[in-house]
Amino acid sequence: MYDLLLRQCRLLQTDRTIAEVDVAIKGGAIVEIAPNITGSAKLTLDIQGQLVSPPFVESHIHLDSALTAGEPRWNQSGTLFEGIEIWRERKQNLSLEDVKARAIETLRQQAVQGVLFVRSHADVSETSLTALQALLEVREEVKDWMTLQVVAFPQDGIYGSPQNDILIEKSLDMGADVVGGIPHYELTREDGVKSVHRIFELAQKYDRLIDIHCDETDDHQSRFLEVVAANAIHTDLGARVTASHTTAFGSYDNAYAIKLLGFLRRTQINFIANPLINITLQGRTDSYPKRRGVTRVKELWQQNMNVSFGHDCIQDPWYSLGTGNMLDVAFMGLHVCQMTGIAEIDACYDMVTWNGAKTLNLTDRYGIEVGKPANLIVLNARDRYDAIRRRATVHYVISQGKLLVRTESSRTMWHNDY
Ligand code: FE2
Repeated sequence: MYDLLLRQCRLLQTDRTIAEVDVAIKGGAIVEIAPNITGSAKLTLDIQGQLVSPPFVESHIHLDSALTAGEPRWNQSGTLFEGIEIWRERKQNLSLEDVKARAIETLRQQAVQGVLFVRSHADVSETSLTALQALLEVREEVKDWMTLQVVAFPQDGIYGSPQNDILIEKSLDMGADVVGGIPHYELTREDGVKSVHRIFELAQKYDRLIDIHCDETDDHQSRFLEVVAANAIHTDLGARVTASHTTAFGSYDNAYAIKLLGFLRRTQINFIANPLINITLQGRTDSYPKRRGVTRVKELWQQNMNVSFGHDCIQDPWYSLGTGNMLDVAFMGLHVCQMTGIAEIDACYDMVTWNGAKTLNLTDRYGIEVGKPANLIVLNARDRYDAIRRRATVHYVISQGKLLVRTESSRTMWHNDY
């Protein structure tokens, strides 16, 4: 007897074709995929031809600051730098309980909307390392239904104050999964370059992944991505490296950008764009024409680089909106990056699913295949295009072989005789 049987699925397979099949689950794993599976199950769900997809992947979020918008004040200028100032005030009051409660509430909101894999940054610029400790505890507490990776993120720069270099190494000792950085916010360009070298050194010493907030500015002189690319080539760590944001890439002149693209193709660096946030944060010092402030997603995708989309913030000093819905992120990315061709729309869906899993280094356990862990979602949609266009409802979320969330459809009824 199966634990769970899903009948009449439109299954979005790893090769991106759709198969009309049943899916059987037992012991937390997918054990059979075929039309009209015989046998019974403890729980059978009639999917009625809805889309069955691997879960959404949130590849970039800051859970430690989530749900703090307006505390202690709202960001009036809308800039990254006012956001950092407000967060500096708010984080004086962090406690383990405060961070954990907001992080778990956010993860639950995400799971309801089909997100089962999350990479969160934890600010490690405070000597108490409260945010990190809290997220490491949350990682453990939610592990039965959510996979959480934690990045040691030095929000104020590794060399912004004397203790920060010690704190980031201590964070890796405590168990952070990923080494972070913010070279464009270091005090000088030289410190920025030095910080990238240091991040690679720490990643090798502690055998961790890398995810750097890189060139999140409109300053076309901000060129730390080339330093990341050079380090990736020198160390051969490319597939374990992620460059987040890289918004300055959208402001580089083409002569430099095309040269840089050639270097990037020699790496296997992953890219994360955060279109909801960067369309609002960037371009604030422009009059008109006003820049879009998002990295060159389409060009990177055309070069077969791995690009994913992240939410970045949910109700925090940098972005007061957000619900955790990854289809909102894909929808905004599609518009801002002008990914409107049908293959491009489908690619935007991949950027919140498979591509994110690759960034998180989870490809071997991601996707709906016999033998893999049974993580999947059921969407009220026919295919990827339909899911994005209507920002479809996620009706079922199945995590590690168990039904985690069920959401009923809202019903609309016409009245009178129209
Ligand atoms: Fe970020």
